[in-house]
Amino acid sequence: MDIAQVVNILDELLFDKTGSHLDFIQKSVLEGTLQEKTYSEIALKSGYSESHVADTASDLWKFLSELLGEKVRKANVKAILEKTNFSSAILGNTSSHITVTNNINLCPNNTYPNNNSPPTPLKSSTKLHLNNAPKFPYFYGRNNELSTLKDWLINQEIRLITIFGISGIGKTATALHLINEIPQHFDYIIYRALYFSPSLTTTLTNLLQIFSPPEIPNDIESKINLFIDYLTQYQCLIILDDIQNLFTPQKLAGTWQTDRTSYHLLFQAIALSSHHSNIILLSQEKWLEIQQLEKANYPVKSLILSGLDSDATEILHHQNLANQELWPQLITLYQSHPLWLELTAELIGELSAGNVSEFLEYQGLIVPEGVRSHLDKKWQKLAPNEQKIMLQLAQETAPIGISKITHKIDLVATEIVNSILSLKMRFLLETETTENGNLISLSPILKEYIKSRYLLNLPDKGYNN
Ligand SMILES: Nc1ncnc2c1ncn2[C@@H]1O[C@H](COP(=O)(O)OP(=O)(O)OP(=O)(O)O)[C@@H](O)[C@H]1O
Ligand SMILES: [Mg+2]
Repeated sequence: MDIAQVVNILDELLFDKTGSHLDFIQKSVLEGTLQEKTYSEIALKSGYSESHVADTASDLWKFLSELLGEKVRKANVKAILEKTNFSSAILGNTSSHITVTNNINLCPNNTYPNNNSPPTPLKSSTKLHLNNAPKFPYFYGRNNELSTLKDWLINQEIRLITIFGISGIGKTATALHLINEIPQHFDYIIYRALYFSPSLTTTLTNLLQIFSPPEIPNDIESKINLFIDYLTQYQCLIILDDIQNLFTPQKLAGTWQTDRTSYHLLFQAIALSSHHSNIILLSQEKWLEIQQLEKANYPVKSLILSGLDSDATEILHHQNLANQELWPQLITLYQSHPLWLELTAELIGELSAGNVSEFLEYQGLIVPEGVRSHLDKKWQKLAPNEQKIMLQLAQETAPIGISKITHKIDLVATEIVNSILSLKMRFLLETETTENGNLISLSPILKEYIKSRYLLNLPDKGYNN
């Protein structure tokens, strides 16, 4: 492994995501780890304390875990980077300014399983800035959602689109697949993830650099104005992912981090100014201001992604599972959620040699470890009162009315109602309307996750109270 090259690539990727380069200590940790040094050896050489080295390393492994889609730790980072041929895979893709003159292909090997038509050709001058967009080898279904999005972009000129949905439901995959179908309309196509919750200044500077302005102003207002100028001058499609990371953990949904509220000024300016560009925001949770913009009839629309329905069979096909007659049962249990089904299908492959019948005979619903770790992250971000409601709902045997639940939880009614609304904004509740009013419940997977994680006698895994 060429360690210097790997460090350079990671440096570029970090810059793309956060607008900052690796600093001295981060570089020392990476180089030292890849040279199989201990944290105390790295601390000695770099002149920092061992605990500072360990903290820096922990953040870096988090970044790499997200990037590579698997849990990275000090012990396995070198093996993972070698195994995935990370350096060469990313090397070809690091240019921060790519001009493409042929087709976009985000699917390796030209696999468009559910769409026989090849991708639409690009404008010869379309500039792609997708270098930190994740790659998805397969994409199934979502025909209705893609038609709606294309209609909003092309026919209705909706300037600001938000795609909402629970983690793993396919927001990023769908937004990136959309690019394959409409690129000829755009001068620029840009993807940026706000995973590390960058400040608005960092994000705007990063976006403005793409247009090579003679100079980038310092104050936010001038930056926003210049950005809108470019959106007017060029036709851009910009996808901003992971908006939920701008909100405060352990507060109700859509509570901005205090120093991130200015993002709303940007979104408002995009919605209100007259330009011909389109911005797509991807978020695991709704927030009040975006709902208000949509209600006020600005060119703003939102799409909520739910499961893949019958198209989810493609995921099971791909994993070569047996007992096709039982697939609908499996799909219903896992709510045709693509990530949950993918991880469950992998588990069935490993555990039962692809035998769905045997898997369904296990007592109780199985929540694969990968799904649990996704749900763990979500759980940690809930407000304590939201957790209380989820814990109560996990113990209910049937959907329950809101008034009934107010008698079962030791909170004032306003807190309960606000927390329920917040859980709805995070897409964590099932709701149904009956003649007795609205009922709420949890999906079987969420229920099983909460029961096994927090209601049985297992070690505490992070209940906030
Ligand atoms: N339409 C689809 N066809 C096939 N696989 C899909 C589809 N949608 C999602 N997936 C699979 O599910 C996984 C999660 O998708 P994706 O990352 O797009 O979810 P997300 O909603 O963006 O999640 P998060 O909020 O955590 O970022 C992907 O790795 C992909 O393998
Ligand atoms: Mg995503």
